[in-house]
Amino acid sequence: MYRVCLILLAFATACAIAGFPSVLPTKGEVWPRPQMSLTSSTYMVIRPETFRFTTIGQDCDILKAALKRYIGIMFASYSSVELRSQPWRKDGLFRGYLDNVKVNLIAQCEELPHRNMDEQYEIKIDSPDAPLEGTIISHSVWGILRGLESFSHLLLPSGSAYVLNSTQIMDFPRFSFRGLMLDTARHFLPVSKLKENLDLMAMNKLNVFHWHLVDDQSFPYESAAFPNLSKLGSYSSNHVYSAEDVADVVEYARLRGIRVLPEFDTPGHTKSWGPGQPGLLTKCYTNSTPDGTFGPIDPTNDANYKFLQSFFTEVTHRFPDHYVHLGGDEVSFSCWESNPAITQFMAEHNITGNYSKLEEIYITKLLDIVANLPTKNGYLVWQEVFDNGVEVAKDTVVHVWKSSPLWKQEIDEVTSAGYQTVLSSCWYLNYISYGVDWHKYYECDPQEFNGTAAQQQLVLGGEACMWGEYVDRTNLISRTWPRASVVAEKLWSAAAHTADADAAAPRLEEHRCRLLGRGYDVEPLWPSFCPSDL
Ligand SMILES: *[C@@H]1O[C@H](CO)[C@@H](O)[C@H](O)[C@H]1NC(C)=O
Ligand SMILES: *[C@@H]1O[C@H](CO)[C@@H](O)[C@H](O)[C@H]1NC(C)=O
Ligand SMILES: *[C@@H]1O[C@H](CO)[C@@H](O)[C@H](O)[C@H]1NC(C)=O
Ligand SMILES: *[C@@H]1O[C@H](CO)[C@@H](O)[C@H](O)[C@H]1NC(C)=O
Ligand SMILES: *[C@@H]1O[C@H](CO)[C@@H](O)[C@H](O)[C@H]1NC(C)=O
Repeated sequence: MYRVCLILLAFATACAIAGFPSVLPTKGEVWPRPQMSLTSSTYMVIRPETFRFTTIGQDCDILKAALKRYIGIMFASYSSVELRSQPWRKDGLFRGYLDNVKVNLIAQCEELPHRNMDEQYEIKIDSPDAPLEGTIISHSVWGILRGLESFSHLLLPSGSAYVLNSTQIMDFPRFSFRGLMLDTARHFLPVSKLKENLDLMAMNKLNVFHWHLVDDQSFPYESAAFPNLSKLGSYSSNHVYSAEDVADVVEYARLRGIRVLPEFDTPGHTKSWGPGQPGLLTKCYTNSTPDGTFGPIDPTNDANYKFLQSFFTEVTHRFPDHYVHLGGDEVSFSCWESNPAITQFMAEHNITGNYSKLEEIYITKLLDIVANLPTKNGYLVWQEVFDNGVEVAKDTVVHVWKSSPLWKQEIDEVTSAGYQTVLSSCWYLNYISYGVDWHKYYECDPQEFNGTAAQQQLVLGGEACMWGEYVDRTNLISRTWPRASVVAEKLWSAAAHTADADAAAPRLEEHRCRLLGRGYDVEPLWPSFCPSDL
């Protein structure tokens, strides 16, 4: 299945000096794989002491911070991939020292990453039209960020210097929405871990951090207007994200070209909202008396809509992205059914049938509130909102997550109804299993369903999810990475380039060692070794 050393022995002597790892890493390949790249066997050498970036186009804070950051990343502690090989020495393929890479941002910087941001870039190292020079070119600062990341992948440590081949890259993403979801409600994740994860997202060109902030188990988000929500709903007063923490995360992400998409899931998954906002949740009944437990948000209480309006007004000021995620998944109807006031409301409003109509009333009002906030937000919703027939605005993004019914059928229905969509069904990374488990992530393609070209266009991309029931700061990074790297390549690279998981394996091995070498505890993929194991 994998290229094993025994087979390679016939072709490469590398095995003889490197033991018998399951997969041998490539050298200097970019992950995710660029749309177009041309590499020749000549090479240049970078000496960390003399190397610098020179800005020859537009400049701004994001760019300045990035150039400084990438000097650190490029020359991180990671020692030679070729652990036992000789440092480079001049030969016929040596073209010269690369002491200066020009960074050419052609248009003015944008301040905030957004849903239509341009991420295209070009890299030229010793190209025919600019021999012995190095340039990273883009029309947007986001493209420069992606180009810097790719450039850093070309460098191979060799002794006290780095070698890189003469290379030309022209690159852009296949999908505009390339997300990763973290859940900070089942377990609190310290801001430092969120930042570490944002670093890794940038190193894999993911561009949306979907932050599932709160859920049944805890409410770690501190609201200025409703401080009791976190005071009474968080695990402890320390397990809370203050307004400063949120701003810190949003800024850290911004500098890396990553959008932060906050999710406040309602009307279900809301137990932790209850203590801090009396009257919000439906009282559940047993034998016609309240039994002390609570269900979804009470859709019959007008005060609740006033609360939601104030709450989301604040949320949309703290999170600058155009979109908020409004949840809407897994609403249990049993509590509504048990409550006589809800039954009466249904009768008074001539609502017949099951309680999905009630959910529709709630969601419709909520969507209306959010769409009419001063910030004029758009929204994502989990697929149930669509499944239950709720009327949503045309620019709604339906987040497909279920694997049954088949997501292909679901995404076909969603897009034929004219809605945009993001796929997560095949990328629930919180499910783990023994053995090599990433092939299935690589083999899932969000546009592989029966649909017209117009329907395919409505697929914005996909998102890996890391639900937090069994994940906290101790295992977040290792469980998420490098498995999320697989999703990242699937969403960035051309479909034709990502058809074969076996072919990707040596590049993934190199990338995993690269991330480990940069100091992140990303887990191994199979029996192998990295220089920075030591
Ligand atoms: C890069 O250069 C090295 C050294 O000259 C050569 O062995 C290697 O094949 C080149 N890589 C590619 C992809 O051409
Ligand atoms: C917050 O909760 C405390 C303690 O339960 C209560 O006394 C106070 O009135 C609440 N504040 C608001 C604004 O609801
Ligand atoms: C419910 O139906 C009754 C009888 O058809 C009608 O008189 C009443 O106006 C309806 N109420 C609402 C709120 O639509
Ligand atoms: C509820 O009713 C709707 C439409 O009337 C239907 O599509 C749906 O399947 C029903 N749900 C349940 C759980 O019975
Ligand atoms: C797509 O259409 C073909 C031909 O109509 C059919 O055989 C196949 O089952 C469909 N696939 C899906 C996922 O619906």
